[in-house]
Amino acid sequence: MSIISTDLSKAVELLNNEELVAIPTETVYGLAGNIFSEKAVKAIFETKERPFFNPLIVHIPNIDYLETIVEAVPEKAKLLAEAFWPGPITLVLKKKSIIPDLITGGKDTVAVRIPNHPLTLDLLSKLVFPLAAPSANPFNRISPTKAEHVESYFKDKIKMVLDGGACKSGIESTIIGFENGEPIIYRLGSTSIEAIEAVVGTIEIKNKKEVAPEAPGMLERHYAPKTKTILTTNIAEAIETYKDLKIGLLTYNDILNDDAIAYKIVLSEGKNLEEAASKLYDALHQLDQQQLDIIIAEQLPDYGLGKSINDRLQRATK
Ligand code: TXA
Ligand code: MG
Repeated sequence: MSIISTDLSKAVELLNNEELVAIPTETVYGLAGNIFSEKAVKAIFETKERPFFNPLIVHIPNIDYLETIVEAVPEKAKLLAEAFWPGPITLVLKKKSIIPDLITGGKDTVAVRIPNHPLTLDLLSKLVFPLAAPSANPFNRISPTKAEHVESYFKDKIKMVLDGGACKSGIESTIIGFENGEPIIYRLGSTSIEAIEAVVGTIEIKNKKEVAPEAPGMLERHYAPKTKTILTTNIAEAIETYKDLKIGLLTYNDILNDDAIAYKIVLSEGKNLEEAASKLYDALHQLDQQQLDIIIAEQLPDYGLGKSINDRLQRATK
């Protein structure tokens, strides 16, 4: 029997009983549990096979809830929250002791956001606790943007995926931390740097592939298909190089046809970066199911959401 359902009251009941429910957001599906339940939070890490040092994002119902869980909100954090919430920006702020250490991997900060999905906002308003929710994929695998993706990963491990349709943005939230009151991007994501800079001015990016990055989830290999994947600016040359293999192609808008290509996905024929972002993970899921020898991915323009998409593609090729 399918675990996919639109039954909101069942989701409320399961979460109240310290069980996990996969929830839709505008970015990707999350694997959600009560932040105050040790049982639920442990189950999140175990289900994902995620190391405990990698902290979770706390999803809150409204801005007023912030003061319950964080010590202080820097001025620029306030501006960002007001400009983008509900929406795909996560703020990393000094936590209050009410936030369990298990959520934050022992850090003194907590990552928090208000997701922009009507069903999940409705769900949050019916609960008396916020939801911890990492992306609903096994550690290092491709994030889910459809209920079916979650079901194929976790059908034996969780009781319910709340079906909210395909995620509109399609890549994770942009994560912003604060050092001396100044915002710093820890993870590129669904809110573009340009949009953020329009609110708070020039912003530094620390999205490096470090061994111990500020956001521990930013490891070099991440979001990865099982199939070997390469990233290129020259698809024709890559196709020539690998022509003896069974090739899958992921391009931005190129409609080139070549007999050497066994399976092809075009992200946005009209060259729209928002559309490309929304289709990216589903495309990788599809390509990964075609028994290919190699996935050749085309690099996108390096601005706006193109930067975030290229970041994910790079991590998929490691
Ligand atoms: O769009 C999203 O953000 C999705 C949806 C479900 O909300 N969630 C998501 O969660 O992408 P996850 O767990 O896959 O990624 C959370 C990232 C990780 O890289 C983690 O290391 C970082 O947030 N993070 C969490 N708490 C942090 C903290 N206190 N300081 C720095 N980084 C933190
Ligand atoms: Mg993730």
